[in-house]
Amino acid sequence: MNISPLEQNSMDICAEEGDKPTVETNTSCGTCFSSDVPFQKKVDKLELTRTYEAQHTQSDIMLVSEFKQLKLEKEAQKNWDLFYKRNSTNFFKDRHWTTREFEELKTCREFENQRLTMLEAGCGVGNCLFPLLEEDHHIFIYACDFSPRAVQFVKQNPCYNPDTCKAFQCDLTKDSLTDNIPADSVDVVTLIFVLSAIHPDKMPLAVENIYKVIKPGGCVLFRDYGFNDHAMLRFKTGNKLGENFYVRQDGTRSYFFTTGEFC
Ligand SMILES: C[S@@+](CC[C@H](N)C(=O)[O-])C[C@H]1O[C@@H](n2cnc3c(N)ncnc32)[C@H](O)[C@@H]1O
Repeated sequence: MNISPLEQNSMDICAEEGDKPTVETNTSCGTCFSSDVPFQKKVDKLELTRTYEAQHTQSDIMLVSEFKQLKLEKEAQKNWDLFYKRNSTNFFKDRHWTTREFEELKTCREFENQRLTMLEAGCGVGNCLFPLLEEDHHIFIYACDFSPRAVQFVKQNPCYNPDTCKAFQCDLTKDSLTDNIPADSVDVVTLIFVLSAIHPDKMPLAVENIYKVIKPGGCVLFRDYGFNDHAMLRFKTGNKLGENFYVRQDGTRSYFFTTGEFC
């Protein structure tokens, strides 16, 4: 199968985030454009980004109908659960960067080896949870997700140990976290590519819910998609739900944050 430069580039970018594109491509092709081309040409990523942006501006005007938007919101949990049924534990890469990128995991401790209580909100199948438990032996992690199937995968993981973690199903925008976690008991909350999956109108509900379980002075570590990420630019016409908010082919949605939205 021939690969257009655009598709090939999106595959490269996706692989970095463990986020796969909806287009079917032959990934073994590296940087060649087509098997007919007798030489390999390096793709200029900057040029591709500009092409993406230009195409995106044009195809960005039409919004998904209100009827479909309501259906997507109603079926949000089902769509994430089906996502994990299709992909099981193979989609996202293990996130081995948390202790490196979030130095607060060290600095929030009053003394070395202080046992931290953490909440991994929207934990998926544990790609952040298990590497962290492996690296830091002085931590207890509550882990919750919307998708019952994802939680099941977490509990089936050979590294799941009730002495160091507790996984449970929960809709962050609806189910009180205090049903599973004592109020004011958590030192650190991580939100890794999770808020973006929640409808922007409901994000404050998730934040308020988290606020109930976090200790005074505790911290929230947040990492998510940014405005004009390649993941955003590769959405085609008919995928836009609202300002910076898009739907993938499988019905899961993603918001793209701008700096300042959280200040
Ligand atoms: C992009 S995945 C990220 C998963 C995981 N944090 C990781 O980094 O691998 C987004 C996750 O958010 C979860 N999610 C979406 N809406 C949620 C909600 N309202 N409450 C709890 N989890 C939610 C989904 O089920 C999915 O597992």
